[in-house]
Amino acid sequence: MSQALHPMLNIAIKAARAAGAIINRASLDIERLTVTAKSHNDFVTEVDKAAEDAIIATILEAYPGHGILAEESGREHGARHSDYVWIIDPLDGTTNFIHGFPVYAVSIALSFRGQIQQAVVYDPARNDLFYASKGKGAYMNDRRIRVSKRTRMLDCLIGTGFPFRKGDNFQRYLKMFEEVMVQCAGVRRPGAAALDLCYVAAGFYDGFFETGLSPWDIAAGSLMITEAGGLVGNFTGEPDFLYQREIVAGNPRIYGQLVKTLSPYTRVIKEDPKVDAELEADDGESDPEDDALIQQLQAAEDAAQAEKQAAEPEAAKPQRKRITAAAKAQEDRDAAEREPKRPGRPARRDDAPF
Ligand code: IPD
Ligand code: CA
Ligand code: CA
Repeated sequence: MSQALHPMLNIAIKAARAAGAIINRASLDIERLTVTAKSHNDFVTEVDKAAEDAIIATILEAYPGHGILAEESGREHGARHSDYVWIIDPLDGTTNFIHGFPVYAVSIALSFRGQIQQAVVYDPARNDLFYASKGKGAYMNDRRIRVSKRTRMLDCLIGTGFPFRKGDNFQRYLKMFEEVMVQCAGVRRPGAAALDLCYVAAGFYDGFFETGLSPWDIAAGSLMITEAGGLVGNFTGEPDFLYQREIVAGNPRIYGQLVKTLSPYTRVIKEDPKVDAELEADDGESDPEDDALIQQLQAAEDAAQAEKQAAEPEAAKPQRKRITAAAKAQEDRDAAEREPKRPGRPARRDDAPF
């Protein structure tokens, strides 16, 4: 990145690297890990907690007035009513980590009045650092990244995540999986959603979809996608995905095709006529406690935003808009004309100067 990084992004990188060092150290002796099940198939270790503590300490030392939403401690730390909220997953891919399967990452995003502004995803096993600032592009190991250019689903590699919690709707997922699988060249499920989204941003995958994810799994990765020229939304193609427990992402063309396939399965718009009675009747997607927490977080976020917007002059209020692949593709073409030629595919490893 030629220009200096935003100071808040620098803090996020510092925090992610501190957490990565803790994770790497612990990975040398995974036999000694104490693993606790938060719910069926949902695990946490002392490493998740130590990494989260290190991230929060780094952030609050720099920005004591900011808010924190972290996977393991919720909103316990930081200010409650700040416009700035750091959304943290200290170890995304805990199940992989516990097994020594080297696909996991630290994910840190900064939201300002509900909009993600800064994002870092750090893969400590490969020393891959992904980062993005709103309006400034997405980077992997200091090289600019872009979504892929593939336009035909049959050429595409698609990432996904399988449902695995008690109460998840496996049947609904299997139907989506089958519909996508028969259209594309291959489907992958590595097991760390934050990295999956970065891999779309870097063009390694052409698209991604998953259900049941929480804001900390996807906040950082979603900015990576949009800054890399991709689209991210819920299954109906709207940008309201952070708290919706369904996400689809891709390059603009493939995003459009995935939305077409997945929109009948959305849980955001229940009255969609294409949803068959069997699917509509099945309400299970996740742990009810998890769902309650997400609803609570979303309600708090919505209330804070509504309060702020009510106080703002009419012209300053953000408009809700549907992102269409065509509109984004046009935006991209315009941006491409303004920008200098981009570098080739980034190296897998790099000693980034952070
Ligand atoms: C998990 C990973 C995984 C996804 C799960 C997440 P965690 O995060 O992102 O890919 O399928 O739904 O919970 O629990 O390891 O932080
Ligand atoms: Ca996660
Ligand atoms: Ca986690």
